[in-house]
Amino acid sequence: MIKVKDRKLLLLPGDGIGPEVMGEVKKIIEWFNKNKSLDFKIEEDLVGGASYDKHKNPITDEVFYKALESEAVILGAVGGPKYDNLEFSKRPERALLKLRKELKLFANLRPAICFKQLVDASSLKPEIISGLDIMIVRELTGGIYFGEPRGIEPIENNERKGINTHTYTTSEIQRVARVAFDLAKKRKNKVTSCEKSNVMEAGVLWREEVQALKDKEYSKIELSHMLADNCAMQLLRNPKQFDVIVTDNLFGDILSDEAAMLTGSLGLLPSASLGAKDKNGKIRSMYEPVHGSAPDIAGKNIANPIATILSLAMALKYSLDLDKEANQLEKAVQSVLDDGLRTKDIMSKNMKEVNTSDMGNAIIAKLK
Ligand code: IPM
Ligand code: MG
Repeated sequence: MIKVKDRKLLLLPGDGIGPEVMGEVKKIIEWFNKNKSLDFKIEEDLVGGASYDKHKNPITDEVFYKALESEAVILGAVGGPKYDNLEFSKRPERALLKLRKELKLFANLRPAICFKQLVDASSLKPEIISGLDIMIVRELTGGIYFGEPRGIEPIENNERKGINTHTYTTSEIQRVARVAFDLAKKRKNKVTSCEKSNVMEAGVLWREEVQALKDKEYSKIELSHMLADNCAMQLLRNPKQFDVIVTDNLFGDILSDEAAMLTGSLGLLPSASLGAKDKNGKIRSMYEPVHGSAPDIAGKNIANPIATILSLAMALKYSLDLDKEANQLEKAVQSVLDDGLRTKDIMSKNMKEVNTSDMGNAIIAKLK
């Protein structure tokens, strides 16, 4: 058996249902290691609240360096009500933001796909969402999430002022637009760029720079511009008009939650956060399910592991050059859904309800 060179994956299960869903991913990686000519080295460590509980820090330097050194990071989820009153710098979410910013993962790919087996789980009419396949490309390391100045400061009359700054530069806009255009080339060649150029200068710049890049390098792409509020509305009215949506960090946060919910299958949606290529053509990357830590169902073995499993499939495809294995894993997921297996979150009439580990095992059985 030829072994592919050792590949280091860092698993950061995090909080809430993170450890349970990551447990299924681990089983799948072990299956690939045992049955295929692959040799993934898995490391696992703490992040978010779990790290805070042990180290009083949502991500230690040691874990951060492990992330830097691994080929891909797979993260479960961070956060929970237990941590809500911590000061900002100690909160679980800071770990996520630090990983994004310092690994320079500027492009966040969030597919919103309606699985045909789950059309009825959406709150929208089947004809509006069946066959839906949108890719949202969210800028992830700039904008109001990171802009300076920021803070809360006292002002006159015993009042306080909260400040955040929204900024984007030409290169920040164009590098993420490039990712969107390149993805669109492999899809339907359609990109919708969203901003608020009717009220924000940074939105005007966004629109101009995206258009300039298209004019210069992507003549075959059909580019349209849409105000972000209109996009929120159009996603509900006629989501199938979209192919690739590219937008800034904050609008992308909101629009991607909306798009995910349209599909009725939040528990099934993965995401990839990608950085630039280095000298050797490698990209840094982190993969996570779109859903959060769901503390209300944590520890019950009922969470849906599919979004995290499909995040592994994205890692196989985008970071590890293992398209065949990625497709095999995606097919296995489709096939258990075809068989009518459902976790509680996507359960419907006449289907068979299974728990987290049963779902993972069923997917592994299909890989065989
Ligand atoms: C997301 C989340 C994060 C964000 C939070 C947890 C910081 O909502 O990944 O969409 O706002 O980016
Ligand atoms: Mg969000």
